[in-house]
Amino acid sequence: MSVLAAIRAPARRNAFATAPRAAMRSSMRMRPTIRKYSTESPPNPPPKSGSNAWLYGSISGAALISVGYYLYSTSDAGKEAASAAKSAGQAVKVKTNLVPTKEDYQKVYNEIASILEDNDYDDGSYGPVLVRLAWHSSGTYDKDTKTGGSNYATMRFEPEALHGANAGLQVARGVLEKVKEKFPWISYGDLWTLAGVCAIQEMGGPKIPWRPGRIDGFAKDATPDGRLPDASQGSDHLRNIFYRMGFNDQEIVALAGAHALGRCHPDRSGFEGPWTFSPITFTNDFFNLLLNEKWVWRKWSGPKQLQDKKTGTLMMLPTDYVLAQDKSFKKYVKQYAEDQDLFFNDFSKTFSKLLELGVPENQWVTPEPWVLKNADE
Ligand code: HEM
Repeated sequence: MSVLAAIRAPARRNAFATAPRAAMRSSMRMRPTIRKYSTESPPNPPPKSGSNAWLYGSISGAALISVGYYLYSTSDAGKEAASAAKSAGQAVKVKTNLVPTKEDYQKVYNEIASILEDNDYDDGSYGPVLVRLAWHSSGTYDKDTKTGGSNYATMRFEPEALHGANAGLQVARGVLEKVKEKFPWISYGDLWTLAGVCAIQEMGGPKIPWRPGRIDGFAKDATPDGRLPDASQGSDHLRNIFYRMGFNDQEIVALAGAHALGRCHPDRSGFEGPWTFSPITFTNDFFNLLLNEKWVWRKWSGPKQLQDKKTGTLMMLPTDYVLAQDKSFKKYVKQYAEDQDLFFNDFSKTFSKLLELGVPENQWVTPEPWVLKNADE
C-alpha cells in the first residue's frame, strides 16, 4: 500500500473526511458575514491582582448593600419594602457567590463540543478554525516584555482583529458567541483556549491539560502586528517567532503538527487547500506526508506554496516545508512520523504550554491544570 493510500484509509473511516468535496466548496464558498469585535475601552484600568478581582469588588459592594439593608429594614418605612430589598440582596449574593467549578467548565466544554459540527462549513467542523483561534490568541506572547499571550483576549479589539494573520478568525469568535451567551461568566481568553482544547480532544487528539484564570483586558493591551508567523518565510523566521514565545525546535515541530487539521482559504491567508486527507481528524499525517510525499511548487497566481506531486490536492506552506529541510527540525519530523503516541504526548504538553502564555501565576484558579472529559465519556 502506498503512503498516500495508507494515510487515506483511516480518513475514509471518518464520517467527516470530505477533502475533495470541501476543496471544491472552499473556492465556491461565500464569505461569512464579518462581525465587528471592536469595543471601546472602559474608563477604568483592568483589575491587576487576579481573575477574581471583580468578584472581590462585587463582594465588598454586596457587604455595603447588606449594611445599608440592615439599617433600612429596622426602620418603619423599611419594613414595608423589606421583602423586595431582601430578594435584591440575595440576587447580588448569588452573583458574588458564583465561583465556577471544574464541573461548570466541563459544561462549557460540552456546549462547545455540541456546536463543532456543521455540514455547511468547510470540511464539516469548526474544530480546525477554533484551534487556530486558540493558537493565535496565545501566540502573540513575548517572554522578554511579558506582553501578549492568552490573558486579555485582545483579538476582540481593532487593530488586532484586523491583523492579516487573524483573517478568518471572526468565524471562530462568532460561533463561540453562542456559548458565551449561555455561560456569560467565562472570560473570552478562557473560552477561546478551552475551545481549542475541546476541538483537539473531540477530533480524536490527545487530552490537553487546561485551567481557567484568564481575564478580559482592553484595547490598550493589544499586541502590535507581526508577532505571529509569516508562512512565506524560512527557518530563521520560525525560530525568531517561536523562541520569542519561549519554545525550542522540538516544540516548534510538535506544534506545527496541528496542520494535520483544517485548510488554507484563499479569502483568508491567500493560500489554498488542506494538508491532509482527513482535515478534521487529529493525526500525525502531517509529518508522514511531509516526509514521504514528493512536494513540488504549485504553478498558480497565488502565493508560493507546495503541492503533492501524486494527487495535486494537498498543500504545504513554505514554513511547513522547511521543517523537512532544516536538520534540527527534521529530526523531530521523523520521530513524529514514526511514532504517533510520541507526537500526541509532546503536542499535548506543548499546546497546553502555549495556551498558558502571558497569564500571571496568581491568576490561575488551580495550581495544576485539569483534564476535561470528552463529550461522550
Ligand atoms: C509554524 C508556523 C505557522 C504558520 C506560518 C501557520 C500558518 C497558517 C496559515 C497560513 C493557515 C491558513 C489560514 C487560512 O487561510 O484559513 C493556517 C491554518 C491553520 N493553522 Fe497554522 N500556522 C503555523 C502554526 C500553527 C500552530 C502552532 C497551530 C496550532 C497549534 C496551527 C494551527 C492551524 C490550524 C488548525 C489551521 C486550519 C484553520 C482552518 O481550517 O480554518 N498553526 N496556519
